[in-house]
Amino acid sequence: MKGIVLAGGTGTRLHPATLSINKQLLPVYDKPMIYYPVSVLMLAGIREILIISSPEHLDNYQRLFGTGEQFGLSFSYAIQPRPEGLAQAFLIGREFVGADSVALVLGDNLFFGSGMSEMLRKARARASGATVFAYHVDDPSAYGVVTLGPDGRPLRLVEKPVTPESPWAVTGLYFYDNQVLDIAAAVTPSARGELEITSVNEAYLERGQLHVERMSRGYAWLDTGTHDSLLEAAEFVVACLEEIAYLQGFIGKEQLIARGKLFAKTAYGQNLLKLAQEDQTGRLVR
Ligand code: G1P
Repeated sequence: MKGIVLAGGTGTRLHPATLSINKQLLPVYDKPMIYYPVSVLMLAGIREILIISSPEHLDNYQRLFGTGEQFGLSFSYAIQPRPEGLAQAFLIGREFVGADSVALVLGDNLFFGSGMSEMLRKARARASGATVFAYHVDDPSAYGVVTLGPDGRPLRLVEKPVTPESPWAVTGLYFYDNQVLDIAAAVTPSARGELEITSVNEAYLERGQLHVERMSRGYAWLDTGTHDSLLEAAEFVVACLEEIAYLQGFIGKEQLIARGKLFAKTAYGQNLLKLAQEDQTGRLVR
């Protein structure tokens, strides 16, 4: 299986930090953001990786990673002339993918979770179809959203719905069989002028070949789109010890709530309180 990291975009919400470098090179605490999505591909056992970025930034990645041999990897590089959608990665990367299956990860998506390796291995092992990962969010309208049936199977996909019918956002990590090359080639631009990855996933859904894995409690999917969320991500990487302690069973719900109340005026404390209100599937239980 091949891997593609898409690290394009203009990063206008992070100006002036992104006037001269692109977003995926900004540090998240101690390392460039793109290290995190690359680590996800590595956890999935993928060693041949294509980095796609804009013409003015691609050489930064070449300087950062080189051939990749320092990590036991092989890196290739390609330009996306304009940010015309995530599905374009498969038009640009067609030759690189060749006859193989492929995982796509967005250069600004950060994932953490103890079961990560296991979940990635499972997605990779699937011989046919597509696997996407859904994460329970408060603001689904900012994302591609999947509606799940009672059995966990996907029923519908909508890109940035105004009135979302589900709290499950489709994260920026996708596993596809080789059909994706032709499916992406047939996608037409959306109203916002982009080749949507949601259209690709819809094609798999119509074929009955879309698998959705829920990233429930125990996983974190972090946004890095704004200065505040970037800083939050950097703090998270340092680790939220209470959350780890709670999930490991080292402390109970009462202790978690007590710590949350102690920090109630901060997002840190509020997150602890929120965690105490959710069950294993990420649903609120009051
Ligand atoms: C893109 C996709 C969306 C997905 C999101 C994940 O959104 O279009 O379906 O949920 O990435 O980060 P965009 O970055 O274009 O807003």
